Amino acid sequence: MSREEKLQELEWLYMELYDDREAYEYFMQMLERNRDERRKSLRDLDQARMEQGDWYRSNQLLGMMLYVQNFGGDLKGVLRNLPYIEECGVNYLHLMPLLDSSKGKSDGGYAVSDFRKVRPSLGTMEDLQKLADACHEKGISLCLDFVLNHTSEDHVWAKEARKGDPQAMARYFFYDDWDIPNQFEQTVPQVFPTTAPGNFTWLDDMGKIVMTSFHHYQWDLNYANPMVFNDMTDNLLYLINRGMDVIRLDAIPYIWKQLGTNCRNLPQVHTIIRMMKLACELVCPGVVLLGEVVMEPREVVPYFGPAGRPECDMLYNVTTMCTTWHTLATRDTRLLRHQMGQVCRLPENCFFQNYLRCHDDIGWGLDYPYLSQFGMEEVPHKRYLNDWFIGKWEGSWSRGELYNDAADLGDARLCGTTASLSGIEAGLIQKNEGLLNLGIKCDLMLHAWMFTQTGIPVIYSGDEVGQCNDYGYHQDPAHWSDSRYVHRGKFDFELAEKRKEEGTVQQILFDSILQMQSIRGSFDVFRPDAVVSVYDTGDDRILGIRREYEGQTFLGLFNFSEHPADIVIEGPVWTELISRDEFLPPEEGADHINVHMDGYAFFWLLKGKVEE
Ligand code: GLC
Repeated sequence: MSREEKLQELEWLYMELYDDREAYEYFMQMLERNRDERRKSLRDLDQARMEQGDWYRSNQLLGMMLYVQNFGGDLKGVLRNLPYIEECGVNYLHLMPLLDSSKGKSDGGYAVSDFRKVRPSLGTMEDLQKLADACHEKGISLCLDFVLNHTSEDHVWAKEARKGDPQAMARYFFYDDWDIPNQFEQTVPQVFPTTAPGNFTWLDDMGKIVMTSFHHYQWDLNYANPMVFNDMTDNLLYLINRGMDVIRLDAIPYIWKQLGTNCRNLPQVHTIIRMMKLACELVCPGVVLLGEVVMEPREVVPYFGPAGRPECDMLYNVTTMCTTWHTLATRDTRLLRHQMGQVCRLPENCFFQNYLRCHDDIGWGLDYPYLSQFGMEEVPHKRYLNDWFIGKWEGSWSRGELYNDAADLGDARLCGTTASLSGIEAGLIQKNEGLLNLGIKCDLMLHAWMFTQTGIPVIYSGDEVGQCNDYGYHQDPAHWSDSRYVHRGKFDFELAEKRKEEGTVQQILFDSILQMQSIRGSFDVFRPDAVVSVYDTGDDRILGIRREYEGQTFLGLFNFSEHPADIVIEGPVWTELISRDEFLPPEEGADHINVHMDGYAFFWLLKGKVEE
């Protein structure tokens, strides 16, 4: 698409949505200003990335997400600790929200009170810029959140609105009485039914009601007002110009509100995201937009936009993530296989960020109509999954905590680190070596499965050394009611040191994950343009994934059960990429191979013999 065509599309979309010429002219000048302000080094990077094409689609990329305050205290601390990030083989770093946000009502930084100021305890904009420069020198890309659905009630717009300034008030949704809010409540679900019930908040001082889909201090922005769109896009470009390579667009399905609807994924959301993408292409074409769309697959995929007209470049693979945990608890890969069949058939423009755990809870957004054929019904199945993962189910070694467990909805979600959910915590506490080893195997099998998928795998900081849950938040007055903090503990550098001691949990996990990435980065079958399909292993406990690229064939086998299993695969010879063992037929001339898999074992097989 030429620059001219982009400008035309932008004008067309803008006028269709807002029909406001003056606001449009303002918007275009704002883009121009941001383009002028973009530093030469960043423009050069844009240029190089445009020449390379889709720079983020590469099996060389490995991501990590972390909280600045948990990993080095502040931005300078992260800079100091960059060698550790490099040692992990990570070259794509997602810094969790770090903009100014009021203590005690920050929602982990997702209630922003100033989009142009770093939270003072973490540093300054200059520190952020310095970190970005240092990362670029080391070939590390940086990702930052952009929280666009709402501002904090302490943002200057909200403060002005509170004083009654009509222009500021027009940036939010205010009501004099409960008539309209009550009508909304009939069709709009709740994001946090127990920790922040309802979608509106009564403001005593104003005598008015304001829309707050998330917490009471997160005021929803009104994107029907073009000045909201203009100024938020300006804020987005300001942050990008500090040197960000990837922007995580937070909670995008929610940004357009309309009475009588569920206020999720409305068509106007797609127009707005497409306009933001066009703005980026015009100002900073090397920058990638990562969308956070925690929805069912048929709502997720449209955020890639139609071919040639992208909205987000990349989305979280949320369905595969939560189905993976379902598969672990059920030891039944049928749903995962069914879903992978669908993922493999998606058009080429669909590219995912894969993950096992992130800062949020695991919501059980599974394909229940599909599961019902096996007798798994939504409410009891969610209860089973939660019971299993909080260790309530007899024999379970998982140690999670529930999140937003509203008694009437049967819809609780789940929190916990990978290590705690896969049995490492229980193994350590019970000093049960067998259990600990099983937990380690489970944890590694899950990581291997994540690394097998097409997309960018992102490690949740601490997972690379098996960090367990942090129960300290129970005593913290600011966080005790938000169980997501169980997996938001400080990074334990002392624990991480043990990665250097042979035979420790940390060493086994760290080195194995590193080795997986080194293999993933060096074999073409892991390229994002490889052809991927589901392989029938004949055993519902074992997932098989085939990847093919230019005559090379890879087969990933994953035992999602703690029990050993024996399967048969086609011959004549495969090489296991981690152990370098050769898998051969039982006798000469046979065309099949018997494969024995221990509980939670995985194999990464490449067809044929591998030359050293
Ligand atoms: C996103 C974030 C979550 C936050 C919410 C509200 O979903 O991931 O942590 O609570 O947005 O901003």
